[in-house]
Amino acid sequence: MTWAHGIVRHPATIVARGVALVAWAFFAASLTCAPPAAALPEGAQECAACHNSENTGTVVVEGERRSLAVDVAAYEVSPHGQLDCTACHHGFEAGPHTAAQTEGWLRTARVDACANCHADQSTMYEGSFHGTLALGEEDGAAPFCADCHVPHDIMPPDTLAFRRSSLDLCAGCHGGRSDSYLDSYHGKAFLLGKDDAATCIDCHGGHRILPASDPESPIADGNRVEMCAECHPEANANFAGFLVHVDPKDPTDSFWVFIFWLAYVLLIAAVFTFGGIHTVMYIYRGIKDGLYGRKRH
Ligand code: HEC
Ligand code: HEC
Ligand code: HEC
Ligand code: HEC
Ligand code: HEC
Ligand code: HEC
Ligand code: HEC
Repeated sequence: MTWAHGIVRHPATIVARGVALVAWAFFAASLTCAPPAAALPEGAQECAACHNSENTGTVVVEGERRSLAVDVAAYEVSPHGQLDCTACHHGFEAGPHTAAQTEGWLRTARVDACANCHADQSTMYEGSFHGTLALGEEDGAAPFCADCHVPHDIMPPDTLAFRRSSLDLCAGCHGGRSDSYLDSYHGKAFLLGKDDAATCIDCHGGHRILPASDPESPIADGNRVEMCAECHPEANANFAGFLVHVDPKDPTDSFWVFIFWLAYVLLIAAVFTFGGIHTVMYIYRGIKDGLYGRKRH
């Protein structure tokens, strides 16, 4: 009782003790929970001395002008922050770069180097439609690893932020499919904040992307029910036939959807046309009858 009494009588003591306690808690927390100061490995620091965000120089590589600046602060805290730059830039040395160092570096850094540390993803990618095209160099438009993962600022793929950004990623090269997805139930739900609604990567995967004609693809006729069932346990063949990508304005996409779309558009047009004519006639009649006049006698 005396103890409580003391507290009540000296509010200043309570404040002082409170402050001390909070300060102590912060100090203790800083000892136990603080992440180790993220510092670049020594080799990377040497490269960063020239390649930091203040560097305004550029270099032309394979016809494309690139900045020599690297956002070192972002790199440092990314999952790759402890890698030496030479993990991907094989053979580079600090100082002026010789032709032997820079020869073919882009291809090495964008895909070949990744395989040394991410064998599983690389194997899946090599067997995918994208990988076959990009590695075979038949189609320069297909993505390498670094087209989907920003190499100096890797975003952990298991985050919601990455899931959201993946829509723009695929849309950048598959605009039409993206539009039809955004028109679909999943697309609308996802944009409205339903984070568990299916996105491109839930149905197609990230690395082993295959066309529908490949029997191993999750979107192949024989596998579609199983794929939908991962989130819709009740899915059957009928359910899985739900059209994910359909452009209603294209009769070759789905004839019946096109017919319904056309009928709908004609119906709407007819309703508005008749409605409009009716309104015009009504107003005309009103004017003739002096309905809108100031003085009515
Ligand atoms: C003394 C400054 C300096 C240092 C240190 C330096 N670079 Fe460079 N780097 C440059 C300059 C200048 C260019 C553009 C001209 C050239 O290629 O030499 C360049 C170009 C590059 C390029 C583009 C290649 C191209 O086609 O020109 C890469 C990749 C690169 N550097 C990586 C690195 C890495 C990795 C390190 C560390 C091992 C490093 N640099 C250290 C100055 C430097
Ligand atoms: C995970 C692999 C990886 C690591 C680690 C890496 N880079 Fe790169 N770097 C790349 C790729 C891939 C590109 C080409 C960018 C692209 O695909 O558009 C590149 C491009 C560059 C370029 C050319 C300019 C540009 O941005 O296109 C420079 C300079 C460079 N890197 C320097 C560095 C430095 C300095 C470090 C270390 C602090 C580093 N890189 C670490 C993969 C990496
Ligand atoms: C020298 C080895 C090495 C190289 C080369 C390398 N990585 Fe990594 N990567 C790592 C390590 C280590 C981590 C962090 C630990 C982890 O999550 O696997 C990581 C993390 C990642 C992550 C995040 C994984 C997650 O679950 O959060 C992605 C994505 C990634 N790397 C892609 C790439 C790509 C793309 C390339 C080539 C441009 C590449 N890496 C090159 C070693 C490497
Ligand atoms: C078409 C875009 C795309 C390409 C190309 C791509 N990735 Fe990924 N990556 C993704 C997506 C999407 C995820 C997350 C979902 C998943 O795992 O499929 C991911 C996840 C990852 C992860 C985290 C672990 C995991 O498997 O979830 C690593 C590591 C990774 N990728 C490395 C690579 C490497 C290495 C390459 C090249 C061999 C590569 N990626 C090519 C889209 C891509
Ligand atoms: C850098 C551009 C690029 C990115 C990014 C990209 N793709 Fe592709 N993709 C292509 C190209 C090029 C082809 C082969 C040509 C074609 O048929 O469209 C292809 C083919 C495909 C195919 C095989 C079916 C087909 O149309 O022939 C599917 C499925 C696919 N991509 C899905 C995806 C998904 C899902 C993503 C996002 C995770 C993605 N792509 C990201 C360029 C890209
Ligand atoms: C709910 C699952 C689902 C989602 C989400 C989804 N797709 Fe598809 N996708 C499919 C199915 C099933 C097919 C095959 C039937 C068809 O062509 O409509 C397909 C076909 C494709 C094809 C053509 C494949 C071929 O072999 O012709 C591409 C490219 C594609 N989708 C890209 C995307 C992109 C990009 C996104 C995200 C913007 C996306 N898809 C979202 C299920 C999905
Ligand atoms: C990653 C999980 C996921 C996958 C894979 C997936 N969906 Fe969905 N789907 C959802 C979610 C979440 C909803 C929203 C449910 C709600 O709240 O109404 C939804 C809603 C739907 C709806 C409208 C409402 C309903 O429940 O009937 C249809 C139709 C649908 N999905 C069809 C499909 C088809 C067909 C496939 C396979 C080609 C598929 N989905 C794959 C998550 C998924």
